[in-house]
Amino acid sequence: MSFSAPKVSIIGAGNVGTTFAFALMKSGLTGEIVLVDRNQKRAEGECMDLNHGMSFASPTKIYAGSYRDCAASNIVVVTAGAKQKAGQARLALVKENAEIFKTIIPEILTVAPETLLLIVSNPVDILTYVALKISGRNPAHVFGSGTVLDTSRLRFLLSAHCSVDPRNVHAYILGEHGDTELPAWSTATIGGMPLAKYCPLCNRHCDEKKELDAIFDEVKNAAYKIIEAKGATYYAIALALVRIVEAVLRDENSILPVSRLLEGYYGLSDVALSVPCLVNKKGAERSLRIGLSQEEQTQLKASASALRKVIHTLGL
Ligand SMILES: NC(=O)c1ccc[n+]([C@@H]2O[C@H](COP(=O)([O-])OP(=O)(O)OC[C@H]3O[C@@H](n4cnc5c(N)ncnc54)[C@H](O)[C@@H]3O)[C@@H](O)[C@H]2O)c1
Repeated sequence: MSFSAPKVSIIGAGNVGTTFAFALMKSGLTGEIVLVDRNQKRAEGECMDLNHGMSFASPTKIYAGSYRDCAASNIVVVTAGAKQKAGQARLALVKENAEIFKTIIPEILTVAPETLLLIVSNPVDILTYVALKISGRNPAHVFGSGTVLDTSRLRFLLSAHCSVDPRNVHAYILGEHGDTELPAWSTATIGGMPLAKYCPLCNRHCDEKKELDAIFDEVKNAAYKIIEAKGATYYAIALALVRIVEAVLRDENSILPVSRLLEGYYGLSDVALSVPCLVNKKGAERSLRIGLSQEEQTQLKASASALRKVIHTLGL
């Protein structure tokens, strides 16, 4: 019986790309990881460092390659490009990174026309849309990490506030991965209970609205705070990427808030942003229309129009 282990290529061997490679190598999910960067020397150094830990991980072939080496990848994860400086919004990176994508995406698809593309570079929703337009692929095959990271931040902060395991907290951040994102409180549950039911059981008598507002504020501004403190964010996004790639490679049908082209979602189309999607070996196969409140629907529409305004400036 022959067995071929999945192959993952990572474009961009910076903070995010290499931390993801490290987490992926530890996960044992894949047999081959290729790192591609315009700074070939850096990619080679990173691969040497990763390989020197291989006796403590599952055997994985890791090497610095060119775009040609992305052939036969199950998924290509794009982390290349400029990152936010302290105080800078993600949307400020759009022109520079959209230009980079005009080269990167065709290079990948020339050698790996069937691969799934997972976009991570910021602004991730706009670049997911750009990659989709450049590639002409099925929308399921080109998707972004979206608010999987923000949702994990929310689950962690809620779990810490309520002193409960984050795995028992289900709550989504939706919309743009950025300043117009929104918390879908109406669908949030702890241990299967809506927040309004769980809170009285907690006996902490906190001001629910005030606490939830503060938690969401912390989520929305997390990247600004971390970048100010240490220059970049990479551990949590790396783990979020392993989770998404795991859902794909293991064909899990997991529900994750990845960024995907909307096709009539609450009347929204022709924009990519995060809503809960079914993720499996086909990619972000479809979005799931969860029951949002009127206010949340309005916020989602505002997020979509903010993103559309930026898309229009790109003249795609
Ligand atoms: N979506 C998310 O949740 C999320 C989270 C964190 C960071 N990011 C984004 O990920 C991106 C990378 O962040 P980082 O901290 O790793 O940055 P970084 O500067 O450490 O790494 C970027 C890498 O991209 C490479 N690169 C630039 N242009 C390239 C090209 N044309 N071809 C190949 N490689 C190229 C650079 O040489 C560098 O090694 C940024 O856009 C950042 O904003 C996204």
